[in-house]
Amino acid sequence: MRLTIKEIFELPADGRSIAVKGWVRTKRETKAAAFLEVNDGSRMGNIQCVFDEAAIAACLPELARASTGASVSVEGSLVPSPASGQKLEIKATALSVIGEAPSESYPLQKKAHSMEFLREIAHLRPRTNTFGAVARVRNRMAFAIHEFFQERGFQYVHTPLITASDCEGAGAMFQVTTLDLDRIAKSGEAVDYAKDFFGKPAYLTVSGQLNVETYCEALGRVYTFGPTFRAENSNTTRHLSEFWMIEPEVAFNDLGDNMELAESFLKRLVKTAIEDCAEDLAFFDQRIEKGLVASLQGVLERPFSHMTYTEAVAVLEKNADQFELKPYWGLDLQSEHEKFLCEKIAGGPLFLTDYPKEIKSFYMKQNSDGKTVRAMDLLVPRFGEIIGGSEREENLGLLQDRIRELGLKEEAYSWYLDLRRFGTTPHSGFGLGFERLLLYVTGMANIRDVIPFPRAPKLADF
Ligand code: 4AD
Ligand code: MG
Repeated sequence: MRLTIKEIFELPADGRSIAVKGWVRTKRETKAAAFLEVNDGSRMGNIQCVFDEAAIAACLPELARASTGASVSVEGSLVPSPASGQKLEIKATALSVIGEAPSESYPLQKKAHSMEFLREIAHLRPRTNTFGAVARVRNRMAFAIHEFFQERGFQYVHTPLITASDCEGAGAMFQVTTLDLDRIAKSGEAVDYAKDFFGKPAYLTVSGQLNVETYCEALGRVYTFGPTFRAENSNTTRHLSEFWMIEPEVAFNDLGDNMELAESFLKRLVKTAIEDCAEDLAFFDQRIEKGLVASLQGVLERPFSHMTYTEAVAVLEKNADQFELKPYWGLDLQSEHEKFLCEKIAGGPLFLTDYPKEIKSFYMKQNSDGKTVRAMDLLVPRFGEIIGGSEREENLGLLQDRIRELGLKEEAYSWYLDLRRFGTTPHSGFGLGFERLLLYVTGMANIRDVIPFPRAPKLADF
């Protein structure tokens, strides 16, 4: 098989003949030589292909066509590079342009483009250094997630994307229907869901948790990793309408065990990023977020901080003048509060626990104070919440009471309640937003730039 540029850089510069295929990043021509920087996506760095006078003469018509963005095939020999910062280059003897990229119309010329502009050409942005790096880190992190859980005996469970239950009880769900909405609207008839595809209202899932809990209460240690959907009208740099979530769930784990799992999980992912994505992280450190690598390294070196919600609110109240939204006990903390707590108080990742039950989901285990639940959010500098989870209410009566109190339909959760009717156990789990993880390890500022094709309110292009 043809070697990738990444593989070529592991070879000795011994003059062997070599062929490379990829896309031209830049072309530079002097009287005596021409230089093509070629990239094939296998790594951040390009390979420099140098054409001496004889090679220029041999490749002339093709060299003229090999502009930025063109796909090319280059043959030559692998030699040491005199240029600083690269150990090898190709002394080219042959060039063929596979597909041109006319410079008048190719949008990605050799200059800095804004993230906003690149979002408009999301089909071409993977050809930039930044988005190539994001894609490689995303790939490595997805694999590391499976490695982490598989090494610990977790079973990967596939939960449904179409569901009739609202896991978070927040109601921000996309409806799935095959009803002819235009016709119904014109006819003035009431909607009859018995005639809909599933015979009842159905939605895209906001979380695989309720389903994965069923397998947890049989297989012990399980996790999901899949797409989830939220129809909240949140136009922020931290929210997507379609995002990927990792949700482990462990039988017999309490909240303390849950936090230990979350901490070792996040640390392992950070460590893998530092070790296996060094070239890409060095780029992010230099161009996107100064000090990124040192701060990630710091994360590995000390235990995460812990605070209860009640303690956190007391701290926030003392600093009330710093916030747009004044903190008080019962407030669903905003990212300004979360950032303050981990940046100014904890100086790193911070677990907040024991939130008021009113601002958390129905399934969380109730504390004996009658006011708070065994919830945990992991907050990190720069954007706040990265993980949300809890110990689950394993007591049938208490869970039923909570479902009724919140006005949820008990029938819809009868299968979920069966887990408490038959062989109930304490159990705990959490959800890590995959794109929030990527913001964390890459230093990228906007969540729309760490997923290939972002979906957000009024945004479903490509
Ligand atoms: O805190 P959330 O809503 O928790 C759950 O869905 C639970 N069922 C998880 C569980 O216990 N199994 O979401 C979990 C995480 C958040 O901490 C955040 O990282 C991410 O998912 N997240 C989002 N990421 C991008 N866009 C959004 N709109 C997100 N909403 C949540
Ligand atoms: Mg949450």
